[in-house]
This record gives sequence, C-alpha cells and structure tokens, in this order.
Amino acid sequence: MADQKSSATKSDIFSKAFNFTKADEVKEMGLYPYFKPLEATDGTIVEIEGKKVIMAGSNNYLGLTNDPRTIKAAQDALTKYGTGCTGSRYLNGTLDSHLELEEKLAEFMGKEGCVLFSTGYQTNEGSIQTIAGRNDIIFSDKDNHACIVVGTLVSNAKTMRYQHNDMGQLRKLLERADPDAGKIIVTDGVFSMSGTLANVPELVKLAKEFNARLYLDDAHAVGVVGEGGRGSASVFGLTDEVDLISGTFSKSFASLGGFLVGDKPVIEYIRHNSPAHIFSASMPPANVATVLKALEILQEETWRLERLEEIANYMRKELRGLGFNVWSSQSPIIPVVIGEMMDCFKFWKDLFEEGVYANAVVPPAVPKGQSLLRTSYMASHTDEHLDQILEAFRKVGLKHGVIDRNGHSAAE
Ligand SMILES: Cc1ncc(COP(=O)(O)O)c(C=O)c1O
Repeated sequence: MADQKSSATKSDIFSKAFNFTKADEVKEMGLYPYFKPLEATDGTIVEIEGKKVIMAGSNNYLGLTNDPRTIKAAQDALTKYGTGCTGSRYLNGTLDSHLELEEKLAEFMGKEGCVLFSTGYQTNEGSIQTIAGRNDIIFSDKDNHACIVVGTLVSNAKTMRYQHNDMGQLRKLLERADPDAGKIIVTDGVFSMSGTLANVPELVKLAKEFNARLYLDDAHAVGVVGEGGRGSASVFGLTDEVDLISGTFSKSFASLGGFLVGDKPVIEYIRHNSPAHIFSASMPPANVATVLKALEILQEETWRLERLEEIANYMRKELRGLGFNVWSSQSPIIPVVIGEMMDCFKFWKDLFEEGVYANAVVPPAVPKGQSLLRTSYMASHTDEHLDQILEAFRKVGLKHGVIDRNGHSAAE
C-alpha cells in the first residue's frame, strides 16, 4: 500500500485516495471522533471502548429503538416473513405490511397517498430526481441535506440555491425564473445541523404566488414536532398547503426506511418512475413492523412528544445560560458551536472522557470556524442524564475557554 501511495501519479484515478491522509493524521493525535463502534446500548447509555457514556447525539427522538414492544414487533415479523424481501417493491418485494404502513402513514399525515423507500436518503434523492425534469426549476435551501442536493444534481432540472431560510432571496430567484417553467421549492422542515425550522408560512405564500410546488423533507420533524408529531407544516397548521412531505424511519420511528406523502397521482407517478424505488430492494419485514408499532406508540403515548419538547427547551436554555452558542435551534437538535475543527475534536474527546457522546460536525457540513458538537435528545433521557450532560459541557467548556465562569461565550 505504501508503495502504491508513493508511486501514485496524478493521472491515476486512485491518487486522491492514496493521498488522503487527513483521517490518519487526526487518528494519530488520538482525536478521531468518527465511526466509533457501540459495543452495547440501551438507547440513552451506550458502551464505547469499554466505557459507558450518555448518548447525546442520537436521532432516536422518541426513545423507541430499545422499547420491548418495537423489538417484539420486529421479532414477530422476522418469524412470519423471514429476514428480507430480496426484491424491489415493483416486483417480488411488496408485503401486505408495506401496504398497511403506506395507508396508515397517509392517514396520519393527512395526505391521499404514500410511497415507501428503503432509506430516508433514497426517498429524497429518488423523489426529487423523478418529479423535477428537463424544463423544470428546483429552488433549494443552501443548508438542505445531502440527499436533496444529490437529488437536484441527478435530476435534469435547473437548480437555484438560496441562502439558508432567506425568503427575500428566494423571492428574487422566483421572480427571475421563467414563468412557464415547472417549479418546486425543496427544503428541510427541521434543519439537521442547526435544528431550526423552515419558514413554512412564507414558503407557502411564495409557492402560491409564483405557481410553484412545495416539498418539505421532514426527516427530523415527523415524530418530533407539530400536532401529534405530524411535522414542520403542522407546527403552523399548514399541512394542507404543502404538496409533498417526506420522512424517515431512522430517527423517531426507530428503524430504517423512508416515505413520501402527497396527492395520489403524484405519489403514483413517483412510485412507478423513481429509480431509487424501482431498482432497490424494499424495506425488510422487521423494519416495517417496527415502524408500524412506533407509529402506534407515537399516537398512544402523547407524553413522549411533550417530554421531548420539555427536554429540548430545558437544554437550550441551560446551554445558553452556560454561555454556549446554540444558534437558533427550535427542536431537540441543539448545536453547540466550538469554533475551529481541531478545537472541536479536542472538545469532543474531553466530553467523551467526561462520559458524554455528542457528534462532532466540521466543514463542509458547517461553515469554516463554526465546527460544532451536535447534541440531540430523546424522550427517554432522564433529568439526571440531562444534568450530567450539562455538567460535562460546563467543565469542558471552561477548560477549553469556550465559555467563562460568568456564563459568557469566550467569543463575545
Ligand atoms: C434532513 C435529512 N433528510 C434525510 C436524511 C436521510 O435519512 P436516512 O438516514 O434515514 O437515510 C437525513 C439523515 O440524517 C436528514 O438529516
């Protein structure tokens, strides 16, 4: 391997890989925070490198990944249907439980139709690519998730990107666009790094004014915010005004897969034309059964969403009170801005030593100099967990000079 590295020429397509040293350099410094294997987990407490730490970086918002009822549902489905579907929904890979889930999700979300995909990523990539064609224009928020960005890149449509949540710039782009082109505005409903909500009321207004369709990626919103967990449009009572809403099962629904809801003809068009749907195997039976059970629990145990909101409000207030910059989070995703990338890795390591796991997020996922620890919370976190997380942040924040003892950010 070393020989290949030294002899790699620029024209060798692998040269970029042989010359990729960044990860090894950070590993050698003992600061590498990625791909850490969990050796055990009960959802809130995980074991990493033999050490038990509080998980403050999971998307398991409702705390259902280790719930005995979701586990039992998955086990029963394994026994009934086997381990996989070995084919796409289009051909041999549709189970009666896929249809049941589509029906229940459409009803839950208050839309006519629903189509499942095998991941949340595929849902957005595969739907955007299919619905936006050669003469169309996609208007996309600059902070949208990578799967939306890839969806715009593989579509034949023109893409116009606007600054994060900048409705003034979006208006200007819509004004400049060909009035005869098909138009769709695509945005995260809750942004995955900042935890901020999209400005759904203004988006609905602009979409109406300029004859555009509106698509919300509610991966971090369905089962998290809105009436009964119905997502970001529901926060504003605007579900009926939004054309397409996608969600994922890898977060609140404690499984893997994704869905898109909307008017029936649009959903049926995507079902029959999306490569990500047609040419990829369907969700395995245990995953479907888990989501069906999670959806039932979400609707029965309303305390979970209430607790999640209470925790998010508490942690935002307390972290701010300590002096941390948490941007304008409006959800259980609360970023803690550290600054330069290496400082963020050092902070991550000390936080881990203090018994807390959070996710280190560095450029290009965030702007340069704004590397952060993305914390996120679950309904199953106890008050003790939360106070331990806060104490760890306080201690490490003071040690690294990110905050001072008066509750101020060192950057102020
Ligand atoms: C906003 C957003 N959309 C889509 C996805 C993709 O979902 P999945 O991980 O279920 O494929 C994610 C995942 O992190 C996300 O944050």
